[in-house]
Amino acid sequence: LQPKPLRGKRVLITAGPTAEPIDPVRVLTNHSSGKMGYAIARAAHEAGAEVTLVSGPTALVAPRGVLRLDVDTAEHMLAQVLAEVARNDVFIAVAAVADWRIKHVSPSKLKKNGDASMTLEFELNPDILATVAALPNAPYCVGFAAETDDMERHAAEKRVRKQVPLLVGNIAQQSFGADESVLTLFDEQGGHPLPRLPKLAGARQLIAQIAQRLPR
Ligand code: PMT
Repeated sequence: LQPKPLRGKRVLITAGPTAEPIDPVRVLTNHSSGKMGYAIARAAHEAGAEVTLVSGPTALVAPRGVLRLDVDTAEHMLAQVLAEVARNDVFIAVAAVADWRIKHVSPSKLKKNGDASMTLEFELNPDILATVAALPNAPYCVGFAAETDDMERHAAEKRVRKQVPLLVGNIAQQSFGADESVLTLFDEQGGHPLPRLPKLAGARQLIAQIAQRLPR
């Protein structure tokens, strides 16, 4: 029999990329496939939790038994997360959210105007994880960080900046779109590396760690 350390708990997860419109036919997005977030959703469901997955555009099928809510932009993801978060015990932000959106989305397809270059103006998107972590009755919040260099330092700093008890660091070049994960868990004691594992196995280890850390 599988242990069910999250029985009776509700877990909200963001996954995948966001897509910020430029005009009706173009978006600004990134290389997140959704595999890590979907694996965590599956592992949380296996551990007995009721799981809601707020997902940016991906080619994946929701794990059986998981409620998936589709979103596109960061603002849309934030709205969906805020609509769901109050009933959840745990929030895991795995999505690669666009930090910036296009300030003036063109209502019609942008045309080449003969210039060799063009300029888009960006404005800051809301930070979903920091917003949730700052709520008065915030769930147990887990962040992610995909870093291209100096992962340990950036991830540890990000945990403190976003004010979350647990942040999972990974190396961007090894993680976006990959089938395996190499995760390091950062808490107030420091960094705790997990071995290189298929993403579902890594997700199961992460869920076991989260279950142990939840207030009883
Ligand atoms: O989807 P895969 O192909 O499997 O790839 C997995 C992954 C690389 C996307 C995943 O493992 C991962 O690391 N996700 C976080 C990506 C990232 O770099 O996040 P960040 O450093 O921009 O943000 C830090 C944290 O804040 C993340 O938990 C993020 O979800 C959250 N965030 C960031 C910006 C924002 N506006 N809102 C947020 O909630």
